[in-house]
Amino acid sequence: MTVPPHIRPETPADIDVIRALTQAAFKDAPHSQQTEAAIVDALRGADAMVLSLVAVDPDGGIMGHVVFSPVTIESGEGAWYALGPISVWPQLQRQGIGTALVTDGLRRLEGWGARGCVLVGDPGFYSRFGFESDPRLTYRDVPARLVQRRVLVPPAPAGEIVFHEAFEATG
Ligand SMILES: CC(C)(COP(=O)(O)OP(=O)(O)OC[C@H]1O[C@@H](n2cnc3c(N)ncnc32)[C@H](O)[C@@H]1OP(=O)(O)O)[C@@H](O)C(=O)NCCC(=O)NCCS
Repeated sequence: MTVPPHIRPETPADIDVIRALTQAAFKDAPHSQQTEAAIVDALRGADAMVLSLVAVDPDGGIMGHVVFSPVTIESGEGAWYALGPISVWPQLQRQGIGTALVTDGLRRLEGWGARGCVLVGDPGFYSRFGFESDPRLTYRDVPARLVQRRVLVPPAPAGEIVFHEAFEATG
């Protein structure tokens, strides 16, 4: 994509499209439990979306979505957040929309004084944003290379990550 998409916070009118988008994006994703749309709804219902951003085309159509929520980490640093779920419509993937959403979200978090961001995901996508795995940082039995963090304000945290309980939502 030559022109980066416009990124803005979600509005109530976006909610149904975000749900359909999330279901479509994860439909064939390896390792997905197909609970991502329920997680997004549960985060919203729990008022745990510190940031929910949509990427829109020039006609206002939603092309992608990302949500950030608070996490706690065993070592006790505050102001750390989780990135995800993140979704781009399958037919619009690999055009830079996901990159624009992550970049914009991290910039907004940094502007608020966030100390960092964690996620579980593919390093092939997230390493370009400065996300790294750290064997001291764990999440259940998820392989260390998939548990990643981007430090905005040192120190780097360590120990077990506790995501918001909305991540247990199943539908
Ligand atoms: C992951 C996702 C949000 C990325 O959005 P996107 O708009 O396709 O990403 P971009 O076009 O900005 O991709 C940037 C780069 O990441 C790569 N990339 C995209 N998805 C990737 C993936 N799942 N694994 C590895 N690399 C990936 C692209 O090849 C591209 O690299 P390039 O520029 O060197 O060609 C999107 O593919 C998606 O919705 N996937 C399905 C849902 C999902 O898996 N969400 C993330 C769970 S961790």
